[in-house]
Amino acid sequence: MCRRLVCRPSIRNPMGQVILSNSYMADGKALCSLKRGNLIQTILSDYPARKFPIILDIGCGSGNLTRFLANSIPNEEIIAIDNDPDMVSFSVKNTTPGNFKIKFLCQDISIPWAQLDPELTRLAGQVDLIFSNYVLHWVIDIRTACQNLSRLLKQGGLFYFNIFGVKPLSIPNFGKYLKQESVEDQLAGIMATLKLNGLQVTRQNMYSYEWHYTEKDFEVLMPLMYAMHNVRIDSTSFTKLDALERDKIRQEIRIGCNEAYLFQVGNKGKIYPVGSGDPLLYCYDGFVIQGGKLVK
Ligand SMILES: C[S@@+](CC[C@H](N)C(=O)[O-])C[C@H]1O[C@@H](n2cnc3c(N)ncnc32)[C@H](O)[C@@H]1O
Repeated sequence: MCRRLVCRPSIRNPMGQVILSNSYMADGKALCSLKRGNLIQTILSDYPARKFPIILDIGCGSGNLTRFLANSIPNEEIIAIDNDPDMVSFSVKNTTPGNFKIKFLCQDISIPWAQLDPELTRLAGQVDLIFSNYVLHWVIDIRTACQNLSRLLKQGGLFYFNIFGVKPLSIPNFGKYLKQESVEDQLAGIMATLKLNGLQVTRQNMYSYEWHYTEKDFEVLMPLMYAMHNVRIDSTSFTKLDALERDKIRQEIRIGCNEAYLFQVGNKGKIYPVGSGDPLLYCYDGFVIQGGKLVK
């Protein structure tokens, strides 16, 4: 069961709308860290005795999972980046200096190489492990992100990504404004982009997940889901519309999200009944991709 969530408004999309890019529990535990063991467990079971001297954590959020990573996988240095300055300050504040060798950096992974922080580019070709938990679905320019990851990763280095599958929404009137693709196509697209950049995928797993929530939890969770779809709005035609039309589109996205992700418990398949007070089931798909950079 989920505890109360706190959302952090942070980045804005091209339409100037605030996007809630992150959330963490009131008690400091990150939403996405709830199942945090998964990706780390996979690495540990694949490489029980391997040391990864330099680890890069992309989209570290609250830093909780980064600290867990630092404690679980032998390393010498961890660089944890996030493009949300609030999350970086939160992570720094909550990491006791001395206990961990983690450097937190405010950095968008999807900007061109020449614009990246020198603290990051100094690691070109040296990173032993790139780790990213529930982040890459936020990144629209996945091509540039993968180019950067490839330049950072050492030959023979490994990557492990856990990615949320963005479900296509049913939007009867305004579908043309939203860029949508099936979860399978999202996985195929990322795999192709990794391959194009010399990163070989060795394993990919799709999964479906269900969580029970109270309606109160949804009040906090759903704006994140709306935001995730809102970043995919085609801004070139959208910005030409008047405010009323734009609101109509956002409203359709909200309804589409409720239909796609939320079901009443015991009544799966029915539309989320607003205000019913009943417990709800939140269903999503995701995928794990792992692989490495080939030794030339
Ligand atoms: C859902 S949270 C995951 C946090 C953490 N990995 C965990 O599992 O607890 C996604 C994080 O990715 C960050 N993020 C989104 N786009 C990013 C980008 N282009 N570059 C770096 N970080 C990004 C967000 O700010 C947010 O903190």
